[in-house]
Amino acid sequence: MPITAHSTPNIALIKYWGNRNEELRLPMADSLSITLDSPTVEITIDHADTLAVESYEIDGTKKILTEKQLTRFAKHLELTKGYLEILDLAAAIPASVSIVVRSHIPPSIGLASSAAVFSCLAKAYAGLIQPMKELTLEETSVIARLGSGSAARSIFGGFATLDAGEGTDIDTACARQIAPESHWHLHDIVIVPNHDEKKIGSTEGHALAGTSPHFAARIEAIRTRRQHECIDAVLKRDFEKLQAVVEEDALNMHHVMETSTPSLKYLSNDTHRILRDIIALRETEHLPVLYTMDAGPTVHLICPDEAVAAVRAFAHAQNGCTVYETKIGEGSKLL
Ligand code: DP6
Repeated sequence: MPITAHSTPNIALIKYWGNRNEELRLPMADSLSITLDSPTVEITIDHADTLAVESYEIDGTKKILTEKQLTRFAKHLELTKGYLEILDLAAAIPASVSIVVRSHIPPSIGLASSAAVFSCLAKAYAGLIQPMKELTLEETSVIARLGSGSAARSIFGGFATLDAGEGTDIDTACARQIAPESHWHLHDIVIVPNHDEKKIGSTEGHALAGTSPHFAARIEAIRTRRQHECIDAVLKRDFEKLQAVVEEDALNMHHVMETSTPSLKYLSNDTHRILRDIIALRETEHLPVLYTMDAGPTVHLICPDEAVAAVRAFAHAQNGCTVYETKIGEGSKLL
């Protein structure tokens, strides 16, 4: 019986950057994100003799997957089988699977599709295993992490952390929910300045993190203070505190990226202009809005209900930019 799951991207408030084990995507430090309610990815999997992956765009056109993308799915299946063996579930997954990905993520909007895809695929694998054992959401998040680190957090709705853990065992890092989506109605107004493909993707970027002289201090700050401050701000719905720690962490991650060898410069002049303008606007209008950027020039403006209209108007006034509106969502689901 084919199994279909759906999932969505997330936006990190405390960023995951750098691994202690690249193959298993075991992060160096904790991270925290908001799971978004759109755009969605849908994946159908079924038993097969050999691995077959098909992917379709928003308009139904078939995407030609690169060798690198196909290898990533194969590697993910291999690691997932290894993890299921540890759970005594080796027999629960077939020799191979057919995977059909239907992505509703506009390619141009710079929202992490790998987080949505691998959280969705992990959920689908969990569905396939269900007749033998109901995996916990934490176990499902480990499977998601094996495909893309940040995907672990999209297993959960609302606010989720990826807890780094310790050691090199496959299950030492997993995600958990700290508050459901009903806790705080936050919106993410996404401003995409340009549509250039990323020069260096996250997977390659994580491997360079350790070359920055500022990486050790970043990990130390997250471990001793930032993650804790961010969790506290979320639980108390303290927007001012959230803004301070989220912006500090995003700028710090980009500082680490820019000072690594080779230097990773993801932010563009447009990014910096948008940041200057939103800072000026929120000062004059006392708007609760914060900014954050992942591995690209896209600016995420996160705000509560009362600021949405003003932030939306600001976003649409940015010349030559694409705007995408999304909000806190409920995480991966079996359909
Ligand atoms: C900057 O999860 O995309 O978005 O495991 O190689 O897929 P892979 O990396 P990925 O890294 C996320 C980087 C980030 C920060 C974050 O989402 O926490």
